[in-house]
Amino acid sequence: MPDSYHKTCTIDATGDRLRLWQLTDTHLCAETGGTLLEMDTDRSLQLVIAQALDERGTPDAVLCTGDLSDQGSLTAYQRLEDYLQAIPAPSFWLPGNHDDRNEMLAASRGRHRLPGEIRGGQWQIIMLDSQIPGEVGGRLGDNELQRLSTALEEGKREGLYALVCLHHQPVSVGSAWIDQQMVADAEQFWNLLERYEAVKAVLWGHVHQQIDSRRGAIALMASPSTCVQFAPGSRDFKVDDKPPGYRWLDLFADGRIETGVSRVTGAEFTVDLESGGYL
Ligand SMILES: [Fe+2]
Repeated sequence: MPDSYHKTCTIDATGDRLRLWQLTDTHLCAETGGTLLEMDTDRSLQLVIAQALDERGTPDAVLCTGDLSDQGSLTAYQRLEDYLQAIPAPSFWLPGNHDDRNEMLAASRGRHRLPGEIRGGQWQIIMLDSQIPGEVGGRLGDNELQRLSTALEEGKREGLYALVCLHHQPVSVGSAWIDQQMVADAEQFWNLLERYEAVKAVLWGHVHQQIDSRRGAIALMASPSTCVQFAPGSRDFKVDDKPPGYRWLDLFADGRIETGVSRVTGAEFTVDLESGGYL
């Protein structure tokens, strides 16, 4: 793996908080204007970014939590870089099942888009890789679990709070079709996290829907895709007609998190609501 993979990056907090956005499951195609279930994913991402800038101002960093391309194409990541230039803040990426790590690194050209960890204020943001190359479902595996353990130990020594990010859901979300794809070694993941009081939240993508719940003291968050949405609670694959969106998170020095989800308003989107599948 190139040197820029799993580096630790540092960001500066604004005032009393670290202000983050999560943009997830952007599913950019190889060509500009390519579609996912009939939705133009370039257009929807650009509308999400414009609305987020309008609503939230400039963040301190943007977290892009996987399925950033639809087919792992270099051109998709290059356009992602272009669209993110509209935001005067660093972006950090992790891979989803649709992504190609080498092409992500090639597009980022040494800008450290794929850090293992981000430090800012009193926080460590740990970026995990749950991709199993060639498969739809997720697993962390021994290396990522070990890296998580090491990062949490270091964070504990330094008195940092932790936000843990990954692509696949580490809990069942109540949809049989997508729960088959949840993190296979979630039990080890939770056993590890629950040893550290400083872990405040886990944030993921993949499920293309908003989830805000808790597991004990840990906040659980999933977020809308910047393109097509999946219907919550559906046993079989089902597209939702909700608009594209994003999540914002403010991380405070006392370990508190404020967060919310916002969706694009004032625009029409085409999407195939009758589709029976998506891979
Ligand atoms: Fe996705």
